[in-house]
Amino acid sequence: DWTPASFIETTVTQLKEKIGNDKVVLGLSGGVDSTVAGVLLNRAIGDKLTCIFVDNGLLRKNEFEAVLDSYKGMGLNVIGVNAKDRFYKDLAGVTDPEQKRKIIGRDFIEVFDVEAHKIQDVKWLGQGTIYPDVIESVSVNGPSATIKSHHNVGGLPEKMNLKVVEPLNLLFKDEVRRVGKALGIKDELLGRHPFPGPGLGIRILSDVTAEKVRILQEADYIFINGLKEWGLYDDVWQAGVMLLPVQSVGVMGDERTYENVVALRAVMSTDGMTADWVHLPYEFLAKMSNEIINKVRGINRVVYDISSKPPATIEWE
Ligand code: XMP
Repeated sequence: DWTPASFIETTVTQLKEKIGNDKVVLGLSGGVDSTVAGVLLNRAIGDKLTCIFVDNGLLRKNEFEAVLDSYKGMGLNVIGVNAKDRFYKDLAGVTDPEQKRKIIGRDFIEVFDVEAHKIQDVKWLGQGTIYPDVIESVSVNGPSATIKSHHNVGGLPEKMNLKVVEPLNLLFKDEVRRVGKALGIKDELLGRHPFPGPGLGIRILSDVTAEKVRILQEADYIFINGLKEWGLYDDVWQAGVMLLPVQSVGVMGDERTYENVVALRAVMSTDGMTADWVHLPYEFLAKMSNEIINKVRGINRVVYDISSKPPATIEWE
């Protein structure tokens, strides 16, 4: 019978045998999968595991600091790398969504590679790949070339010449969460919504700038905290805000304004392949709209996305 405890016991033993005294490097993202993979590897090989957490400048507000703190609290050996400026520089003027994904993925690999090479004699790359990723990357690389390049760091092991260890690659998401709970990881971390690798970069339609990131982070912060305060966060599979490349006219006092529009998105899903928009209470939407417009300079209009997938995707890019 599969239980989290038996999985942990068997996997820790296997990891010890496989890795021996070698060193492992792992990229943490703040997400459930990489966190559980990190804690599991840490159980098996202790401080021979080094984790790297890259700030690509496209994370949620305060996320880098908060997540880095919680990782340190879990006893992981983590190096936090602030690489914001490099990403902003390379993204400047780029509007094509797939091009943005490629740049973000490439920059991540390069930043990670530089950090990883500071670790003497590292032999293995740990990854939080789970079973659905394994299936999906087969189809991404296969006949259907139109699927987005979700697996942004696919070229990492080849580039680094490392052996790959993926302790979660036979598990589904709910099993990963159960394993994480049995490892003592906080519910707050395990219950987090999925967040795309390219982050806010694909929620800023058109080109990305540091100022747009700041505006979007503020709006997103209000929305996500609102969901938590209203007890709605756990009823939603994923939520976020899209900054539209549209300005619209508004009034403020006696003045006309001409500022940005944001779209709120909240969906229910099991695996992200299909999704329904969530019928959030009108009172909640009204409150979010007021708060965002009053508090976030640069936004004067809020709309709610009522499209389901298919045909609309969860992200707008
Ligand atoms: P879509 O927008 O395709 O998203 O309906 C389905 C799920 O995948 C996430 N997503 C990504 N994740 N890199 C990622 O790591 C990406 O480029 C990417 N694009 C979309 C999206 O957030 C949703 O959970």
